[in-house]
Amino acid sequence: MNLGTLVYEGKGKKIYKDPADQRQVWMEFKDDLTAFNAQKKGSFSGKGRLNGEMATLIFRYLKRAGIPSHFVSWEPDRFMRVEEVKIIPLEVVVRNYLAGSLAKKLGKEEGEKLPRPIVEFYYKDDGLNDPFVSDDQIMALNLAPGTDLMALKTAALEINVHLREIFRPMGLRLVDFKLEFGRDVDGRLLLADEITPDGCRLWDEKTLEKFDKDRFRRDLGGIDHAYKEVHKRLVSFMRERGIEI
Ligand code: TMP
Ligand code: ASP
Repeated sequence: MNLGTLVYEGKGKKIYKDPADQRQVWMEFKDDLTAFNAQKKGSFSGKGRLNGEMATLIFRYLKRAGIPSHFVSWEPDRFMRVEEVKIIPLEVVVRNYLAGSLAKKLGKEEGEKLPRPIVEFYYKDDGLNDPFVSDDQIMALNLAPGTDLMALKTAALEINVHLREIFRPMGLRLVDFKLEFGRDVDGRLLLADEITPDGCRLWDEKTLEKFDKDRFRRDLGGIDHAYKEVHKRLVSFMRERGIEI
């Protein structure tokens, strides 16, 4: 396995590129954990492998459901081969229940089921703390050149349907989550980045216990146990459907 050279290091991942390969790159899942635009930092041993494996299983499931992503293959125990994409500078958040920043903004308790899923866009810019942007702001100010917002919303809502199909039988409520999209060298729109408990809110359907990064953000403890539990349930859900790591 030729990693190539490190071309990017983000909060949770590193990207390696072989200059001779114009189509694909390696993505390394780190054990690091950050929150609030990396003002809060942590890590736990094995987190990179757990997240990489969970993202792998979900991308495989989505592929079977007809959702294209940048995923190519998984190389134990922390590397994912992906199509190189130009990331659209929007974080696409889908909400099924009221929680997090939306609950805070509206001065409401977390947990209310929304009448329908909500899609929100945040402008990807660490220096600005990824601010919320409206559809009109994105279009008028050309914040995401060449991006069809309706296509992004449709894709995000379709992915939401599939993710709920996955987490529900696992006894987990998919409260909300964040997606990123990119375009490959041929201009194809692909789901990118990762889908893991780092970028999702997952609550136990019965006890409402949190099984996601809020355990770290809110100092609840037991994040390693929570991620291992989601991983375990996901592995068995996928195995029953013939999808292995
Ligand atoms: P929020 O309620 O803080 O806006 O977060 C909504 C969802 O997006 C939640 O599942 C966590 C995820 N998220 C990220 O993955 N990265 C981020 O930088 C933020 C702010 C949220
Ligand atoms: N992903 C962001 C960070 O690492 C924010 C968050 O998830 O809370 O800082």
